[in-house]
Amino acid sequence: MSVDLKGKTAIVTGASRGIGKALACTAASLGINLVIGARGQEALEETAKEIAAKFKVQVLPVVCDVTKLEDLENLVNSVKKKFGQVDILINNAGVSSQYPFQDQPIEDFERLAHTNYLGYVRLIRLVINDMIKDKSGAIINMVSGSTLCDPLPRNFIVYSSLKVGLRAFSKALFWELRDKGIKVTSILPGVTDTDLTGKLQEITNDTSRLMTTEAIENAVRFALTQPANVCPLEIAVINQTTPWTAPVIPFQQKHPGK
Ligand SMILES: NC(=O)c1ccc[n+]([C@@H]2O[C@H](COP(=O)([O-])OP(=O)(O)OC[C@H]3O[C@@H](n4cnc5c(N)ncnc54)[C@H](OP(=O)(O)O)[C@@H]3O)[C@@H](O)[C@H]2O)c1
Repeated sequence: MSVDLKGKTAIVTGASRGIGKALACTAASLGINLVIGARGQEALEETAKEIAAKFKVQVLPVVCDVTKLEDLENLVNSVKKKFGQVDILINNAGVSSQYPFQDQPIEDFERLAHTNYLGYVRLIRLVINDMIKDKSGAIINMVSGSTLCDPLPRNFIVYSSLKVGLRAFSKALFWELRDKGIKVTSILPGVTDTDLTGKLQEITNDTSRLMTTEAIENAVRFALTQPANVCPLEIAVINQTTPWTAPVIPFQQKHPGK
């Protein structure tokens, strides 16, 4: 049975590059209209034009810093004004930070928490009541393969522990909304070739460890196209040779600045 998503509307955050841009293209390839968000206006507008031209869907770029509640409210209002409702939310915007904990700047904690955790929870809260009213909606949360490691990857413990929190929240939300017609899926990518990993010293020393966004695109396409009564709760797409996903991290990671 094929699921027709043509004419639906999706928000994709962090869509100006990397995984978010790839997922915006995936959604557009299914005929879904988009509202895409990121902080940098130029790259966002460029991306919107590129996707609209390639996939012949409507794409509205809205400059949005997910750490700011008023920007999230504006994002949701922009969707409602242009398209009426949010059918799909792809919560993806994220930042990384690699430090031994004792060296990590204290301001970093707030930035990571607001971008990688609170931004997700707040945006879901802003769309969820309309989805509940419609008895329909899909939420995809970009978690991380690092949440599968125990202990969490050295030098990424604040980033990864926030992703663990997001994963737990996402799973709990699935169960809470399951009988209301709303799907909630976590995607757990391994180390993927984007600007975010471009700054990580050990990974970029050996680029063969990186995977492309293709597997993540396939995972999200799979999640979005399941029949109404099926929700993939979590999909982990892990690079076979990523050291972070081994139970014990086999080498000492250093901060890029050292
Ligand atoms: N790459 C990996 O290996 C990997 C692995 C596991 C999970 N992930 C997760 O996947 C997601 C995407 O990562 P990526 O690798 O694609 O990163 P990326 O290439 O650095 O792209 C990040 C995107 O998020 C946007 N963004 C950053 N901070 C934002 C903010 N405060 N408000 C709104 N938009 C913001 C960026 O645009 P602006 O800078 O213009 O705002 C950009 O569009 C993140 O949640 C990340 O944690 C990545």
